[in-house]
Amino acid sequence: METKYWKLNCEEREAGQERSDSPADLEAIAEAAEMLRAGDTVAFPTETVYGLGADARNTEAVEAIFQAKGRPSDNPLIVHIADRAALEELVTDVPAAAAALMDAYWPGPLTVVLPLRPGVLSPRVTAGLDTVGVRMPDHPVALALLAAAGCPVAAPSANRSGRPSPTLAVHVLDDLAGKIGGVLDGGAAGVGLESTVVQVQPDGSVAVLRPGGITAAQLAAVAGDAAVTGASAAPDFTPPQEAAEALNHPAPDAAGKSSPAPRAPGMKYAHYAPQGWLSIVRGASPAGAAKTAADLLASARGRGETTGMLLFEEHLPLYPAGAADCVVSLGPLASPETAARSLYAALRRFDEAGATYILAEACPETGLGSAIMNRLLKAAAGRVINAE
Ligand code: TXA
Ligand code: MG
Repeated sequence: METKYWKLNCEEREAGQERSDSPADLEAIAEAAEMLRAGDTVAFPTETVYGLGADARNTEAVEAIFQAKGRPSDNPLIVHIADRAALEELVTDVPAAAAALMDAYWPGPLTVVLPLRPGVLSPRVTAGLDTVGVRMPDHPVALALLAAAGCPVAAPSANRSGRPSPTLAVHVLDDLAGKIGGVLDGGAAGVGLESTVVQVQPDGSVAVLRPGGITAAQLAAVAGDAAVTGASAAPDFTPPQEAAEALNHPAPDAAGKSSPAPRAPGMKYAHYAPQGWLSIVRGASPAGAAKTAADLLASARGRGETTGMLLFEEHLPLYPAGAADCVVSLGPLASPETAARSLYAALRRFDEAGATYILAEACPETGLGSAIMNRLLKAAAGRVINAE
């Protein structure tokens, strides 16, 4: 299959001033919308990450998403809409707390899981559940595409399953060229991490199913009396044995024990995995963490590993020069927005560098930091090395 590529002009813009009303952009978006209506798959930019869209009513089209991504079929897809009127057609009930959250944060990086109206979507979208995750993205290209398609659009992140989510159109092409109908290139995605997924519980509390672009504090600010639960970074999988053993231990140790083999791609527990072995290093002090990391990197290199280090800008001087073959900065610790925007591209850089042994600094799990640590822990399959 040839994947159609549309380069949009909206990239030439001031931050937050995206426009996609140039005639060429509108033509590309109309063409992409026509493909969606015809049952094809199209990747498009959102304010979080690139999504791979298909008509959510069309089982064959939705099936093509799972095929292209190699995604396990029991993982439901988020449905994207352009306006609140479209929501009424999809769900049977909107609890008060959910309505308040949508009023405050739509369009935006918030997905709300609501009771599905039977028969309106392909059952493949919801993996047979009686609920559906709905989101209105805050990106002019996404909104224009959804409006032009005129149908609910199922869209997971536009990466091969197990790879970091795409924050640039080139990431989409790297993973899915030849497997999808087209990609609208609208430049870099904004937040860089996926939306926050929430569900209002029978007791009225707001459960965070996945931390993301909207922080726990932002949710609490508009949830009224409703409690916000489950907002910690801990990912929703049980670490496998190998990871459990590595937890709280500096592994591999300096005695020359070889590092665990790189995980097989597509293992269910690791959603955002680089190809190499990755562990987080957490320390009581930045200097302690850096010392432990530098020692582990040096011994890994001694074993013939290609090494990678993911760190925060101000900690760079704590490492010896050339501490790793590939050193990637997530920007200043004080700017979690920068780290969120750069995380997935950074993980892809380690793959390009052929890194087999990668360490990553931890960041405080507050605000957007919860979502960053959630994704890092997933990428590391739960492995954390505690430094002195
Ligand atoms: O920012 C985003 O949300 C991006 C962009 C493209 O919109 N999309 C995205 O989709 O991240 P995906 O498929 O990679 O992640 C969907 C998440 C999964 O964790 C899935 O389990 C959860 O949402 N989800 C979807 N529907 C659900 C439901 N009915 N109940 C519980 N969880 C649901
Ligand atoms: Mg995804």
